[in-house]
Amino acid sequence: MTYLRLDNLRKRYKPQYPQILNTLPQLLTSIDTPSIDDTITSCFPFSENLPILNFQENAKLNQACSPINVGVLLSGGQAPGGHNVITGIFDYIKEYNESSKLYGFLMGVGGLLKGEYRELTSEIIDSFRNSGGFDMLGADRTKIETKEHFDIVLSLAKSLSLDALIVIGGDDSNTNAALFSEYLISQKENLAVIGCPKTIDGDLKNKWIETSFGFDTCSKVFGELIGNIQRDCFSSKKYWHFIKLMGRSASHLTLECALMTQPTFSIISEEVAAKNLSIKDIINELADLVINRSKKGLNYGVILIPEGLIEFLPKMKKLIRELNYILAKEQEHLLIIKRTQLINYLASRLTKDSADFFLSLPKENALQLASERDPHGNIQVSKIKTEELLVKMLKSELKRRAQKGEYKEKFSSLTHFFGYEGRCSIPSNFDASYCYALGRVASILAIHKKQGYMTSIKNLTQHPLEWVPIGVPFIQLMKLEERKGILKPVIEKSLVNLKGEPFSFFQKERTKWQERDCFRYPGPIQYFGPSAICDTTTITLRLEHNLSIEEKITEA
Ligand code: FBP
Repeated sequence: MTYLRLDNLRKRYKPQYPQILNTLPQLLTSIDTPSIDDTITSCFPFSENLPILNFQENAKLNQACSPINVGVLLSGGQAPGGHNVITGIFDYIKEYNESSKLYGFLMGVGGLLKGEYRELTSEIIDSFRNSGGFDMLGADRTKIETKEHFDIVLSLAKSLSLDALIVIGGDDSNTNAALFSEYLISQKENLAVIGCPKTIDGDLKNKWIETSFGFDTCSKVFGELIGNIQRDCFSSKKYWHFIKLMGRSASHLTLECALMTQPTFSIISEEVAAKNLSIKDIINELADLVINRSKKGLNYGVILIPEGLIEFLPKMKKLIRELNYILAKEQEHLLIIKRTQLINYLASRLTKDSADFFLSLPKENALQLASERDPHGNIQVSKIKTEELLVKMLKSELKRRAQKGEYKEKFSSLTHFFGYEGRCSIPSNFDASYCYALGRVASILAIHKKQGYMTSIKNLTQHPLEWVPIGVPFIQLMKLEERKGILKPVIEKSLVNLKGEPFSFFQKERTKWQERDCFRYPGPIQYFGPSAICDTTTITLRLEHNLSIEEKITEA
């Protein structure tokens, strides 16, 4: 028997995708292209009239056309499947013309601005097929937004005779790709800038984009880990586990994991904001939960916490906004302030309410809130230990209630944070195929020289042969948002829709999960076996498409 390790075996997996992506489709203007708000078109006068593009099957790829040169980069946080977008681009442009070239820019936009790249060969590509991580090229969070940046990239693109630059990134990276594209169109330069929807957070989705890649795999990895903890918890029945899950703003990952694993309690940030809950309200609810379960002898449980929670708490949100402003405005001055004096200095610059709240927080958490922002001006929530903050506050509330005789048990807790554990996992079959197909779609837009477009694929809950590729203009995805105190056009982050099917389903079920133990243990991602187990995508996407959460297994 031949012995092959999974990472090697995965290289042989053949992603599935619609037949149309084996042709050079015609791109047709969709009559359903919605009109765009004036506040956005005024910022993008040259992209204003770009239509949604539908794909229509046309000539088979036959090497008869002139070669094309494409540049590609990975931007922002890692997400499973990024390498497959690149292999999809590579395969398509080589099938189009063997002499086509693909250049990969190293370490994201930072490498692009420094002119650091390598030409991707079939040896390189083959060694990364269906693998996790972004290490084929590396990635960073540098942004490209000034005219100076645009000109540096344009001259590099000219020196490499690039026809297109494909940006694989999240909302911020694609916002900057949109700005660059607008600049190129205004200058009558015909370099096409094309975006691909990446992020484990799942918040780059809308009417046109059903899901971002990486969300499927990452939620399945977290689901496995949570399931394992739940089984441990249910075996020993002695700990309360507080698990923070990545997702910088939106709670999609937490909601998906809750649907997968049925934990005791899950916080959904969007609900917290909608109900205007304070951190004290959350602590009271948690204390009630712990006490009620203790009365039934259930002194254990699993609680999911979305990474972005703090930004949804009204007082905290106000504080973070004020801190963002001060940190951006006083960047240099803050460098000379000693760490021991930082909290008091910042408090002196805040409004009274925010200062009081800031000073009431444990020192360690206050310092985390004042830590460096990412290059887009966002607070780095992965560095804020919300799970520990909640446990500290819950312990003191339980102590208070114990003094009143309301709680008699011992409260033992453990904290966890899952994020980096999932971001570079070997992509699920869904993400491997989805990403590969996105790469082929991006190449088609590049060959047609479509400027200012995102790649998208619809009908994702169906078999990949039934998927429907489209091209979506960046401006269809934008709205005005405050960044570093200034209103700017950005690609809209999609938050959990409290009226949507996934949240409604969760809402209907959750009381049962609190009162009894309904834990589920999803187990690891499966790559081989019945399609209903290996190829099915997230519960979120299934519910959004009005499908049942579980498929019947018909195969042997
Ligand atoms: P993207 O939005 O770039 O995809 O990154 C998402 C994310 O994984 C968040 O979930 C997390 O808060 C953040 O990146 C962590 O950033 P870093 O990789 O810089 O630590």
